Amino acid sequence: MRAKWPLKFMVGVQPCIFVTLFYFVLVVLYGRITTIPEIHYYKKAESYVDKPFSREPKSILLWNAFFESRNWHLPGSLVNETFFKGLNCPATNCFITSEVNTLSEITEYDAILFHVAEAFPILNPFPSKRAQNQIYVFAAMESPAHTKHDLSDEISFYNYTMTYRLDSDILWTYGHLQDIETGQLVAPTSYPAWRKIPELLELDTSLDIALAKKNKTAAWFVSHCDVISKRDDLARSLQQYIPVDIYGKCGTFTCPRNSHECDEKLDDEYKFYLSFENSLCTDYVTEKFFKILDRNIVPVVYGGAEYTKFAPPHSYINAEDFKTVKDLADYLKFLDGNLEEYRKYFWWKKFYKRTKISPFCQLCLKLNNPSEREKVQYYNDIQEWWYGHACRMNPNVEF
Ligand SMILES: *[C@@H]1O[C@H](CO)[C@@H](O)[C@H](O)[C@H]1NC(C)=O
Ligand SMILES: *[C@@H]1O[C@H](CO)[C@@H](O)[C@H](O)[C@H]1NC(C)=O
Ligand SMILES: *[C@@H]1O[C@H](CO)[C@@H](O)[C@H](O)[C@H]1NC(C)=O
Repeated sequence: MRAKWPLKFMVGVQPCIFVTLFYFVLVVLYGRITTIPEIHYYKKAESYVDKPFSREPKSILLWNAFFESRNWHLPGSLVNETFFKGLNCPATNCFITSEVNTLSEITEYDAILFHVAEAFPILNPFPSKRAQNQIYVFAAMESPAHTKHDLSDEISFYNYTMTYRLDSDILWTYGHLQDIETGQLVAPTSYPAWRKIPELLELDTSLDIALAKKNKTAAWFVSHCDVISKRDDLARSLQQYIPVDIYGKCGTFTCPRNSHECDEKLDDEYKFYLSFENSLCTDYVTEKFFKILDRNIVPVVYGGAEYTKFAPPHSYINAEDFKTVKDLADYLKFLDGNLEEYRKYFWWKKFYKRTKISPFCQLCLKLNNPSEREKVQYYNDIQEWWYGHACRMNPNVEF
């Protein structure tokens, strides 16, 4: 009886020792793994380095036309590396074609671009076959108010968006601003770091002479009347307080559009230009604004964007910063009669300039980036992304 006791004890203790040893080994191993993260990370980095950009050319197909242009205003129906090199793109081993037979199979294209502001071809609206690694791109420069194509069928169809909206995968905007000194692109972006407006504006004799010569108040060139932003009503309402010369189809003044003569007229004679958008949609700022930044005239903006994301402070006047159109008109009248205050709207000209960047540079880069190609992404409900909370109907200024 007495001899059995230690044995019983031993039976209980043996698994105990094994369990303790097992945990000991685990703790040591775990410790080793966690205390040498360098090796872990180094291995990761090594495998990344092992996958450089592949030299293989990436192919991009333009599925439908961009309005009247089948090749989306590119220099030809097939553009190659030469085109990308000419744009100084970071990656250049891409080609873009609008001819579907450039490659023998539709599934061979790395990316296919669909211009969604227009209806797709009635015959053959979509590619008949799709490869798993093919990138379908939703492309548009028009606002949702002018998307003529029905998106309800395209559930989980597009992988990338390429639009003017700042939350697009590829930004396709009407203009960019560049810092003249550093060469850096500063806008558009959600949080641009604008320079501080200098306390004292340096004299710029030639600019001052040009500004002093202006003898008219506001101009507007417009060819689409009665659009949903009601910009016509705003302009006409403004006309009750200050002179607004409306050129083009919706007005009484004429000047050949986009001619040198018209541009000069703006620079020489007018103080303000109405950069009014056709719809009030998030980030929707068009060439109506960007082109004016190149000129010596102050844009009065009306649109759905937060303009601070697009242009330097005090480079434009936002109509919606005023309660009523009369308040806006009063402010414009004040500037009209006060050259010293008016010229302050040109402070940024020596720091920033407008530049154009092709969205195809970014697309080519993305198609080449191995880590981009590893990830699977697509838009479940593109309709919600494009239309949901994107535009508003009601202006924030009374007119
Ligand atoms: C690329 O396009 C340019 C201009 O169209 C042409 O001159 C050149 O031969 C093409 N290069 C190749 C490799 O196809
Ligand atoms: C305004 O200035 C332009 C050129 O600077 C001149 O051609 C035009 O006649 C002037 N208009 C008025 C009303 O003074
Ligand atoms: C692209 O979208 C399709 C359709 O939803 C999806 O099956 C595919 O995995 C996506 N490809 C990539 C590379 O994200």
